[in-house]
Amino acid sequence: MNISIIGTGYVGLPAGAGLASHGHNVTCVDIDEEKVEEINRGRCPIYEDGLPELLEEVVSNRQLKATTDTIDAVKNADVIFLAVGTPMENEGDITLDYIRQASKDVANGLEQKEGYGVVVVKSTVVPTTTEEEVIPLLEESGKKARKDFGVCMNPEFLREGTALDDFLNPDRIVIGELDNKSGDLVEKIYSDFDAPLMRTGLKEAELIKYASNSLLATKISFINEIGNLCKELGIDVYEVADGIGLDSRIERSFLDSGAGFGGSCFPKDVRALIKFSETQGEKTELLEKVIETNVKQKTKLVEQLEKEMKLKEKTIAVLGLSFKPKTDDIRQSPAINIISELKEKNVEVKAYDPKAVENMKEIHPDINYTDNYQHALKNSDAALIVTDWPEFNQINREDLKKMKRPLILEGRRMKYEVPKENTKGITWP
Ligand code: UGA
Repeated sequence: MNISIIGTGYVGLPAGAGLASHGHNVTCVDIDEEKVEEINRGRCPIYEDGLPELLEEVVSNRQLKATTDTIDAVKNADVIFLAVGTPMENEGDITLDYIRQASKDVANGLEQKEGYGVVVVKSTVVPTTTEEEVIPLLEESGKKARKDFGVCMNPEFLREGTALDDFLNPDRIVIGELDNKSGDLVEKIYSDFDAPLMRTGLKEAELIKYASNSLLATKISFINEIGNLCKELGIDVYEVADGIGLDSRIERSFLDSGAGFGGSCFPKDVRALIKFSETQGEKTELLEKVIETNVKQKTKLVEQLEKEMKLKEKTIAVLGLSFKPKTDDIRQSPAINIISELKEKNVEVKAYDPKAVENMKEIHPDINYTDNYQHALKNSDAALIVTDWPEFNQINREDLKKMKRPLILEGRRMKYEVPKENTKGITWP
């Protein structure tokens, strides 16, 4: 099938390469000319496991190409995906600027298009957006939805870092459809994917995305609350989580307690759902608590550190700045809040991350960054591990000897071999 994808970010590009590897002819559209050129040379502009190799392959065998020309891409496509960002605007509202612009651009293409095609919203949008925002903009082309073109909403469930694998091996595929004809065509795209496929309405598909992320975030805040209790009891939350997770109705995943969830999705999506529910006259108090618990959890390590020592004029190593390992993304990372708190308390911060230092410098330019974790630990009064990068598991007794006081507070569960008396967990002994 001929497929065009508007937006070549963390969703559009893995989806594009994945669909090309399934034999579709894919055109990726972006306004950024440099990015388009890079993709056409087979180079991957974002960091995602396995993507550079697959992209090189599908570009060289001409299954995938990139362009800045939306009109051309729409004219020649059976299906057009909208995969642009919907970042948080303020206190929870999402900005629809990019999706509106992309819809207008696609409308210009539809105006000149001969024959039928389906426009699929893949961006994360609150319920009613596809019907009330996207379709009216598409119809400015003079063409009518259902009659001249179809519309679907096909949410993505890709995790940053493993987006390609998540795309190729999904747990499920959800297709929200305006009508049967639209859904039938989009279902064909996924005909050789080995995953349950669910067909539903547009609003249902939009909400499935938000409800999924909100429930996962709820699991994390829940286990962090239980974890804080475990800390008081001197027991290990991971053992409790293992015990809970054996119940197949609960399931073990997303019950890893730590310094709170971050990233560009959970904090944004939970807030957006709270805000959206308000507009519908519904209060989502549980979700408000999920966010509240998470905000408190992010700086718990600093509270625990204060119980160990007076912080003024101490030197503290902060290890791990990205919101999770294997990414340079620091959006909503607990490390941001932790460093702010430490600075307020007159602490000298030495920070290290294998990938995210440059990004963190934009938010906290006034702290010391080191080239490796050994330099961060040297002469520090304590260390906080905020992100569980695998390389931190190599920390050993020799590294501890170089610290002023050999104390590591873990915000994430580590697997290194250092004496137990030198480490304390955020929600475990
Ligand atoms: C999340 C979802 O997992 C994806 O399914 C979804 O498609 C994506 O958002 C999105 O909406 O685009 P992502 O934000 O990339 O993916 O990262 P996750 O691996 O889910 O982790 C999110 C945060 O939760 C991280 O800060 C992580 O450290 C934290 N987390 C995760 C925990 O604290 N405990 C856990 O058990 C799992």
